[in-house]
Amino acid sequence: MEYTHVLRGTAFTSRSLKEVAVLKDHLFCIDEQGMIAKVLRPEEAHLVDADIPITTLPEGQFLLPGFIDLHVHAPQWAQSGTALDLPLYDWLNTYTFPLEAKFSDVDFAEKVYTHLVDTLLANGTTTVLYFASIHKEASYKLAEICAKRGQRGLVGKVVMDDAQENPDFYRDASTAEALQDTEEFIVAVKELAKSVKQGVYPVVTPRFIPSCTDEALQGLGELAKKYDTHVQSHCSESDWAHGFVKDRFQKNDASALHDFGLLRDKSVMAHSNFLEDADADLFAETGTAIAHCPISNAYFANSVLPVAHLHEKNMEIGLGTDVSGGFSPSLYDNIRQAVMASRMLEDGVNPDLAPHVRGRQDSRITVNEAFYLATAGGGESLSLPIGRLEEGYCFDAQVIDTTSLPIFDATEPLEDIFQKILYLTRPEHIQQVFVQGECVHKK
Ligand code: GUN
Ligand code: FE
Repeated sequence: MEYTHVLRGTAFTSRSLKEVAVLKDHLFCIDEQGMIAKVLRPEEAHLVDADIPITTLPEGQFLLPGFIDLHVHAPQWAQSGTALDLPLYDWLNTYTFPLEAKFSDVDFAEKVYTHLVDTLLANGTTTVLYFASIHKEASYKLAEICAKRGQRGLVGKVVMDDAQENPDFYRDASTAEALQDTEEFIVAVKELAKSVKQGVYPVVTPRFIPSCTDEALQGLGELAKKYDTHVQSHCSESDWAHGFVKDRFQKNDASALHDFGLLRDKSVMAHSNFLEDADADLFAETGTAIAHCPISNAYFANSVLPVAHLHEKNMEIGLGTDVSGGFSPSLYDNIRQAVMASRMLEDGVNPDLAPHVRGRQDSRITVNEAFYLATAGGGESLSLPIGRLEEGYCFDAQVIDTTSLPIFDATEPLEDIFQKILYLTRPEHIQQVFVQGECVHKK
């Protein structure tokens, strides 16, 4: 049991889907690789060797696992908070594709991506699954910025090769080039990763089925298998996107993605609002996870993901901001929206008990479950040892200063303080952020 430093304080971490462990005044022993080698209770403090430095959190500060954002469109950060007046198809063509096309300029990309990575870290987000743009160089720049700033980044060069469905000003020049650029990107990021403590990962990224030819989807499935990479895409997001795939293949997104070899243990599909039970079974069998994006869903899906129902079906689910379909870079905001939206499914009449239709009394989720989505659920979705403050996990954590939150009673239960943290934390309360044992953000 080798470790080099110890952080002592009170922590909250998911024990299970519904249960949060309160680890009062525990000692987190961190090794040279930034892993949690040991978690000691206060009465075991004497077990720490005298020469190991111990940092003790001041009163009113608490430790949470770093958040894991399973869905961010990095170039869209430049339009966050705007352009939310159109439905998905029009939004893509009017605002988003013209913006993403600008990322052929690597200097512009560097400016936007640096600001985004720093903002996400300041919001307590330590691991991010990113869509970049179709440009290989700018996508690689994003991986480099994550590496440099200390964030664990999983980055995809976006593939959009279908000449009919994508505008001429923003698409891959050909299917062959899309696949070749993806392969070169994978190789380059894997090389970069060799010198990055917290890890950076290449991700196979067909934007969504409507933007890709069959040949590209097939080729991407093969690349994911050849290099054993993560895969990300959008799945059954809105009525339009879901219907488009049904018209093209006479089947749902999930089956079509599966046919192309794109549902794997390390696959994460954004939204997935309109999964039918057979689709959910396919996800569960293949280990494919859902990136739940509750703020974005209010704008583009006009729908609510039936989280409780999908958890009953043993689905892996994490949380995503979907910047900029979701206006906020904060997973705190998305935790809140996940809870609020789930309650809206409850009332009403639904004789068929269809999962994403109102009228299922068992739909609401608690803040504990939403916290699970932002932490342990994200880690499981990515098949990485992250999202929990437990032995064998990476030390990815955020220190929350509650001294300016409305806490007036010294005997207030820690469970209530935890809820106040989830509902009321803003970046100004996030004192420090650690990734793989290293401090990467300090207020
Ligand atoms: N479907 C295809 N592309 C996108 C995108 O950029 N954002 C969202 N929300 N859905 C998409
Ligand atoms: Fe998205």
